[in-house]
Amino acid sequence: MTSRIDWVRGNCRLLRAIAEEFAATQPFRGLTIGTGIHLEPKTVALLLTLKDGGARVVSTGNLNSTQPEAVEYLRANGVDVVGDRTTDEREHDRHLRGVLGSQPHLILDNGGDLFARYLEDPYERLLGGTEETTSGRVRLAKLRSQLARPILVVNDSPIKQFAENRHAVGQSVLESFLRITNRATNGRNVLVFGYGSVGKGIAASFRNAFATVAVVEPDPVLRLEASLDGFQVPDRATGLRTADIVATATGAERVLTEADLELLKDRVILMNAGHFPAEIAADRIVADPRVARRNDGPEGITTLVMTDGREIHLLAGGHMVNLGGPRPLGNSIESMDLGFALQARCLEAVARGRAGQEDVVVPVPSSINAMVAEAFLELYR
Ligand SMILES: NC(=O)c1ccc[n+]([C@@H]2O[C@H](COP(=O)([O-])OP(=O)(O)OC[C@H]3O[C@@H](n4cnc5c(N)ncnc54)[C@H](O)[C@@H]3O)[C@@H](O)[C@H]2O)c1
Repeated sequence: MTSRIDWVRGNCRLLRAIAEEFAATQPFRGLTIGTGIHLEPKTVALLLTLKDGGARVVSTGNLNSTQPEAVEYLRANGVDVVGDRTTDEREHDRHLRGVLGSQPHLILDNGGDLFARYLEDPYERLLGGTEETTSGRVRLAKLRSQLARPILVVNDSPIKQFAENRHAVGQSVLESFLRITNRATNGRNVLVFGYGSVGKGIAASFRNAFATVAVVEPDPVLRLEASLDGFQVPDRATGLRTADIVATATGAERVLTEADLELLKDRVILMNAGHFPAEIAADRIVADPRVARRNDGPEGITTLVMTDGREIHLLAGGHMVNLGGPRPLGNSIESMDLGFALQARCLEAVARGRAGQEDVVVPVPSSINAMVAEAFLELYR
């Protein structure tokens, strides 16, 4: 039987082509790559690609998100996985230090966790590496002079911004809404808070699913863009009064609070796509005296019954909805294949000495963006 991991690996066409090339060119021969990332099927495809390039790969997961099947698969295929799934921050810290204990030549970091710890106990042979996220870039940019090695930031690639943050998150938020609620979007009023990459993708996906979409965005330039893209741009109170579905995608805190309870329509569905669960102030909303009852219903749906009889539904407790509910799939394989192809090419550039010592915490070089874009257009024809 083919496992989910085999399905994902088989569909990562960019990574498969890179793995084949790396098997011949061996860019990481004799090198150790250390990483701490979400261990799930798509990262398995990435780590095994690096291994095919001759690397010894030493990895641990992120807090709370490690999938046991992914760990088992990696271990069976020669990747050293430090520790197992944990929700304990101190244990996670020990696992990260365990990865650094192998003195990796290259670090594939996520959130700056490994590079920051490396600085506490530096060693000579570190060549540099990559950082996956914006939060990691912000953290590591302050440490540039100490790091003094090439570190390429994958999230700052335009490909990552439009392929993952816009298109893939938009689709997976729609997919999660449908999977968790089993409710139709046709003819419903959807209100999206935030018109950055993520908000743009959500708005477009729900419009494509026959909803009427409106956007609330404080930046007048982005509000204009939303308007020219064909979305309504009401003031927030008007938007909330008519919305059947509300999605937050701002990166800000307390975008929706108990102060909005008065405005919400009966049977409205609230969900968040932003990174932190603080966009919808769920605790404060639940604790409001106008909430008579809270029912934790089918997986991922909380219903608040108000004293005036209205019902308000909250998905995934206000956590990222596209990673919530039963059997979350996350972003599409294609979008992750693109992001991870950027990772593989950036690590190759650092290993081969093609990234300069001055490239400390910088965006993916445009030559790598072009190479990955061309390969995708060719392979996915
Ligand atoms: N769910 C996922 O898989 C996933 C993937 C990528 C990013 N994210 C997260 O989604 C969030 C948004 O990412 P982005 O790249 O679109 O960010 P962004 O900064 O490009 O856009 C956010 C927009 O929200 C607007 N905004 C801020 N406060 C607001 C408010 N109170 N009401 C309405 N709009 C407001 C800002 O003006 C900005 O235009 C971040 O938290 C990011 O980490 C989630």
